[in-house]
Amino acid sequence: MNLPIQQLDAADVADREQFRNAVLAGLGTRPKAIPARFLYDARGSALFDAICELPEYYLTRTETAILAANAAEISRNAGPHCTLIEFGSGSSVKSRLLLDAMPTLNAYVPIDISREHLDGTVARLRSDYPALRVEAVCADYMTLEHLPDTINGARRIGFFPGSTIGNLTPEEATSFLRRVRRLLGDGGALILGVDLKKDSRRLHDAYNDAAGITAQFTLNLLRRMNRELDGSFDLAAFAHEAFYNPSESRIEIYLRSLLNQTVSVSGRRLAFEKGELVHTEYSYKYDSASLAALAARGGFAVDRTWTDAEGLFAVAWLKASA
Ligand code: AVJ
Repeated sequence: MNLPIQQLDAADVADREQFRNAVLAGLGTRPKAIPARFLYDARGSALFDAICELPEYYLTRTETAILAANAAEISRNAGPHCTLIEFGSGSSVKSRLLLDAMPTLNAYVPIDISREHLDGTVARLRSDYPALRVEAVCADYMTLEHLPDTINGARRIGFFPGSTIGNLTPEEATSFLRRVRRLLGDGGALILGVDLKKDSRRLHDAYNDAAGITAQFTLNLLRRMNRELDGSFDLAAFAHEAFYNPSESRIEIYLRSLLNQTVSVSGRRLAFEKGELVHTEYSYKYDSASLAALAARGGFAVDRTWTDAEGLFAVAWLKASA
């Protein structure tokens, strides 16, 4: 029988190969784990957008309000004619708050791994900010070592919002900041969004929403393995599990196997015990002391932080240290 062959372009083939390698490595060891970045296929990205709208998920709306309220001051900190470099620009919604407040910007450099997101973002920016120089970079900002030469000597200001740094362990966050410090150079600064330590109930609820969208987001990894890696996961045989670990100051997220079961992925048979966990995410929470310590390890100093009235979230201005 002849089955139609799906047409995949080179980037899709490479993505799928990376996903397959990560899944086979991550499910072949104990404890089992799959890196968080694989949560963001098209469906996962749409589910994450829905998470950002949830009543329990205060992060996005709080950070957006902090940026909106303080954009003028942030812009004064940056000074005139600087270059704004965003690590993982997605749809660049938050960066518009800064772009609107930075009329003399030398250039805006959105970095994103998704060519599709980047093309859409650049087209919209070109039409909404016709005078702005946009130098898009299609790259994985988690490994990027150089910026294009077309970015001239203007002061470089990095932007890494959304508590995305929270996904990284302290060691990973430190090496990320060190690399960013090199990319920004002397005189550079980083505008960093971090989620703050708070009441555990509030944190718990943000990752265990009543509508079950976060559970769908985590379970989507199984769906993605079924679709892209010819997996045989039964979504009803696993559950999303998220809790706050106060001694590590992090939310931990897992898929829990509800049964003893054997599943096939990419031609391999994998055993799961009843109750066994597959780690999918950490979401680290900071306070001023732990943020200052992280910044110092990464080659920065916290110069200022802006927060909301409840102290839920912080946007920090990190100055490159000499
Ligand atoms: C995108 C990493 C900031 O940790 O809050 C939200 C991801 N996972 N709900 C977070 C996430 C489940 C989110 N970050």
